[in-house]
Amino acid sequence: AGSTVTTDVVVVGSGPAGASAALLLATLGVDTVMITKYRWTANTPRAHITNQRAMEVFRDLGIEAQVLADATEHSLVGDTVFCTSIAGEEIGRIHTWGTRPDREGDYRLASPCLTVDIPQTYLEPILVRNAAQRGAQTRFSTEYLSHSQDADGVTVRVLDRLTGQEYDIRAKYLIGADGARSKVAADIGLPFEGAMDIAGSMNITFKADIGRLVAHRPSVLYWVIQPGSNVGGIGAGLVRMVRPWNEWLIVWGYDIAEEPPVVDEAAAVQIVRNLLGVPDLEVEITGTSLWGNNEMYATRLHQGRVFCAGDAVHRHPPSNGLGSNTSVQDSYNLAWKIAAVLKGHAAPSLLDTYSAERAPVAERIVKRANKSSREFVDIFAALGVLDARTEAEMAAAIEERKANTPAGAAKRAALVRAMELKNYEFNAHGVELGQHYASAAVVSDGSELPAPARDADLYYEMSTVPGAHLPHAWVGDSTHRHALMDLAPYGRWTLLTGIAGEAWEQAARKVGDELGVPLTAVVIGPGHDVGDLYYDWARVRETDESGVLLVRPDKHIAWRAMSLPDDPETQLRRVLLSVLGRE
Ligand code: FDA
Repeated sequence: AGSTVTTDVVVVGSGPAGASAALLLATLGVDTVMITKYRWTANTPRAHITNQRAMEVFRDLGIEAQVLADATEHSLVGDTVFCTSIAGEEIGRIHTWGTRPDREGDYRLASPCLTVDIPQTYLEPILVRNAAQRGAQTRFSTEYLSHSQDADGVTVRVLDRLTGQEYDIRAKYLIGADGARSKVAADIGLPFEGAMDIAGSMNITFKADIGRLVAHRPSVLYWVIQPGSNVGGIGAGLVRMVRPWNEWLIVWGYDIAEEPPVVDEAAAVQIVRNLLGVPDLEVEITGTSLWGNNEMYATRLHQGRVFCAGDAVHRHPPSNGLGSNTSVQDSYNLAWKIAAVLKGHAAPSLLDTYSAERAPVAERIVKRANKSSREFVDIFAALGVLDARTEAEMAAAIEERKANTPAGAAKRAALVRAMELKNYEFNAHGVELGQHYASAAVVSDGSELPAPARDADLYYEMSTVPGAHLPHAWVGDSTHRHALMDLAPYGRWTLLTGIAGEAWEQAARKVGDELGVPLTAVVIGPGHDVGDLYYDWARVRETDESGVLLVRPDKHIAWRAMSLPDDPETQLRRVLLSVLGRE
């Protein structure tokens, strides 16, 4: 029969979604058991682009320095190249991940963090290590089998893969972060839109020092256009840096309608040499695998006491680098809510807002990533290689872009447009950061998010309309500099106001004590611990100095007051009771 383990939350999976859920819950002091099927974390590099919002989560958790220590820094990630092979002809470059000088301003103004590159093989151990250090129990080689839920909790049936024994874990809540083939999501019958396995990709990891070919144009991604490169998954052949500049991952497509290709050592070496354009290159192949590209998202993310996060609810190609980032942010949205309910700060209805807030994000990123991979066809069309039957025909078509002829000029103009379009994959700041929540955990102040002045996928616009993410500004004093987000740590609710709003401090103390909710007001201004160093806070808050932003643990704005009301305490009590579902 086996004995029953008891805890508050069971997390299935140690990927970006599961490991960060375990770490976030442990940080909040919630009893958590994380189980995962294999003996250790990801065994291939997989996700790597780590965007500003994910880095902000790590900053909030106090592990930003650990992540940066293992990451390839921002300045080395962005000179993305399109070429016929790494040693061959270059077709064009694009500044990616916010490295183009004008766009870098947008990125730096929006966040205290910049996009970096850290492969999953490096990130997951950091998350798991910190989760365990902060109190989470981690059970490797432990497989989720099934669960049943009742009014008080969930009983999770698991298999110890070392002993072959099954046992139960009894918990209040279950988080299924078990990836794109999620059994938990299937078991609770989540509704999905879209399809799985719409295209095939193969990964080949290898070691070869090719610094001389790339270090002068440092990037994470080198896109290779060769015969067959428009078949399958992500749009074109890809040579991806894992470690600069001697560890790499190739992604090459295959026709998913055909038998899966056999990628033996010889085949892998040949693909590497072709894409690198170095016929006699010394290569050490370290692994190969096949994977399917998906276009699928869940429209509801939970059923009762069971929640799904990460690829379990959004499945899409790596284009735009959104998978792991969104997975981390799912858990960031969910963990504080579970903690608040377990601690009695909030009613269980708060948990329904997870689905209301994150399902629209899942849909948006799945659609964006798939559109981006399809938009690669514009580059092939611009080069005129779509109909090329042989390598020679393809080479001739690519060569034509050099000609001083009307056809050559047309090709060059088409390339300008096709490359411009790739900003929607590589500099989609609005998709990366612009997540606005509408749910019962946000209280409207009657205002609406202004219509975007620029393209909403490419550009992120800061706002303090309730539901928006807290804007970024640097604040502090003569010896310390903080980001606004640092004033509103994950473990509590925070009111941000100015000197004319000092009365909010007392309101926060009284209402926080009365409701038993951790709530602190921070007054920003001269003579206080935190001053408005660049007068940016005054610009981004969009309220009077006496107004207030009520910031949730996950840095979204639950409510704002444009100025100090007659009775701030009454207003604050009403709003908090409402967002916590305690009315
Ligand atoms: P993930 O799949 O990582 O983890 C699932 C976990 O559940 C694993 O720990 C597994 O062992 C466990 N599990 C599964 N079934 C179980 C069971 N029955 N019992 C117990 N445990 C079980 N994303 C991104 O943001 N930027 C990028 O640049 C890329 N690039 C990229 C490249 C390539 C080649 C791929 C294939 C993918 C990407 N991605 C990406 C996507 C990224 O890898 C993916 O979105 C995340 O890994 C999703 O994280 P999850 O934690 O949701 O699932």
